[in-house]
Amino acid sequence: MSDKTDAAQEKLVALLKEGRSFPPSDEFRRQANVSDPEIYDRARQDPEGFWVEEAKRLDWFEGWNKVVEWNVPWVKWFIGGKLNATCNCVDRHVKTSRRTKPAILWEGEPGDQRVLTFEDLQKEVNRFANALKSLGVKKGDRVAIYLGMVPELAIAMLACAKVGAPHSIVFGGFSADSLRERINDAQAKVVITGDGAWRRGNVVPLKANVDEALTGTPSIEKVVVVERVGKVTQVDMQPGRDIWWHDLVANASDQCDAEPMDSEDILYILYTSGTTGKPKGVVHTTGGYLVGTTATHRMIFDIKEDDVYWCTADIGWVTGHSYIIYGPLANGCTTLMYEGSPDYPDRGRFWDIVQKYKVNIFYTAPTAIRAFMRWGTEWPAKYDLSSLRVIGSVGEPINPEAWIWYHQNIGRERCPIVDTWWQTETGMILISPLPGITATKPGSATQPFPGIEAEVLDDRGQPVGPGAGGYLVLTRPWPAMFRTIYGDPDRFVRTYWSRYPSKYFTGDGAKVDEDGYFWLLGRVDDVMNVAGHRISTYEVESALVDHPAVAEAAVIGKTHELKGQGIAGFVTLKEGIDPSDELKNELKQHVVKKIGPIARPDDIFFTAELPKTRSAKIMRRLLRDIAEGRVLGDTTTLADPAVTARLKRQYEEEG
Ligand code: WT7
Repeated sequence: MSDKTDAAQEKLVALLKEGRSFPPSDEFRRQANVSDPEIYDRARQDPEGFWVEEAKRLDWFEGWNKVVEWNVPWVKWFIGGKLNATCNCVDRHVKTSRRTKPAILWEGEPGDQRVLTFEDLQKEVNRFANALKSLGVKKGDRVAIYLGMVPELAIAMLACAKVGAPHSIVFGGFSADSLRERINDAQAKVVITGDGAWRRGNVVPLKANVDEALTGTPSIEKVVVVERVGKVTQVDMQPGRDIWWHDLVANASDQCDAEPMDSEDILYILYTSGTTGKPKGVVHTTGGYLVGTTATHRMIFDIKEDDVYWCTADIGWVTGHSYIIYGPLANGCTTLMYEGSPDYPDRGRFWDIVQKYKVNIFYTAPTAIRAFMRWGTEWPAKYDLSSLRVIGSVGEPINPEAWIWYHQNIGRERCPIVDTWWQTETGMILISPLPGITATKPGSATQPFPGIEAEVLDDRGQPVGPGAGGYLVLTRPWPAMFRTIYGDPDRFVRTYWSRYPSKYFTGDGAKVDEDGYFWLLGRVDDVMNVAGHRISTYEVESALVDHPAVAEAAVIGKTHELKGQGIAGFVTLKEGIDPSDELKNELKQHVVKKIGPIARPDDIFFTAELPKTRSAKIMRRLLRDIAEGRVLGDTTTLADPAVTARLKRQYEEEG
């Protein structure tokens, strides 16, 4: 380690020891969109009035006649209101001086660029909306989108919203099997994909995956293919089913009337992992979702008219839906989309982009920040990051070391950090600082957004005292909350609303400190958070037992320095099959094939037996203790405690 890094390290340790908080500077506070703490009281006293004020910032074809209706757990917002998300994100800005302002700044992985002004975006969206109509897509039809981070992804989403067809975006890193499952669950009529997607100079074969997925998807009628990688890859176009995007839009009109949508009409479905093998189709509707994402985006990121805003997430996840597309564009904000990886062609790529586009607001994930830390301060130090004003974090708890590193090396001790807690289900950020008000503390997402009520409860539903751990719940409805699980309302009720009556159960552990600050402690269910991606232990187990050599599998999330959690699989093999390193790799590859590269187990551990209760339930809690090198917890309910003791010894020996 160089002297310089030593000094930085010392400073970091000193800061952490101090446990100090970071109030916004006077300079920041003076220019902030929100700087008066009375906003919290106002929203608490009159939450409906608070959200109505925000709703009025949108364009509605028809006003609502009731703000909110909550028949727990069924909620409706802005009842009777009619609007269209794309009109709000695009068309209304074209009628103002924003017409020629960049809506999307796009940077391709190979370094190519595209700038779409609001007017350009409107034309592209209208052409594709007309193209969708020509394929028979009507209001209410589901459209699956399986693309890399190309402008056509944004255009396709907004075109779907314009015609009132709910989109279901499937992250391009998912396998053909995962895509098929999601298409079938949503009964999608059309899938939009690409010939391939760039990933660190290699091609992800999107179209080939779609072809494989479509061997069992009777609902799909048409496939639209964006040409992105061109001659480097070979794609088979099936006549009558597959159409190139450029051919489809070639003669399409750039005028298209928007479908007036009811506030409660579905805007999109987005699949996320739960505690069973089957992913959940999280349903978001139009009015409340747009109100919630727009308000939080403007206030939390302190958005100004001329800002360049960059969220580094992939649009395949909710962060990209709410905070690359819907929130920013509804605010008329210039949103940057980057196609590639942070380390391609080198580890300075993100900072190069910040410098090149003079990015003002930067929003990324702790897993990326930890990678930057490992790559060294010399990478960001080479670039001019003085344009930055607010920097954000999302997806998993940020460890204080990473927070301080981010503060020093990216925010240059000048930019407030907004650590934003939320979920696919919540649609919008619910716990976060307001950068012109909140004194931040490294590692804490600080406080519920105005109008949001959160509590931390014990097993019996009693609020825990300051400093004690418990379960995070939300006690009042918020506009962008999901409305149900697509096609499975029972699962919606069971998963989220049964643990505590009338309270939304988040699945996260948390504590509240003496100052009322929330500290998120990670998932308390069988959901893992691997590099900010949500993966269920059960999904990975199902993929493992699908392999012919495997008898049983138990999967746990295990602390991982960079990824937050890594995936560890404990596997028993069928009679006569010998454990080997080749087999380990084969099993990892099998999971990649079944789910996608994001679910690749870090470790596979072969064992003769798994610890089970007398009723034959696998005790994952004990496996977690073993993997984390902890003293074993309560083993009294085990059928055979010796199994666990043996397993622990074996694990320690094999390291
Ligand atoms: C889970 C939701 C919504 C953003 C992307 C993830 C964890 C998210 C934070 C944060 C601590 C966080 C929680 C949550 N999480 N943000 N700032 N601090 N934990 O969406 O895939 O639905 O995952 O991510 O565990 O439940 P998601």
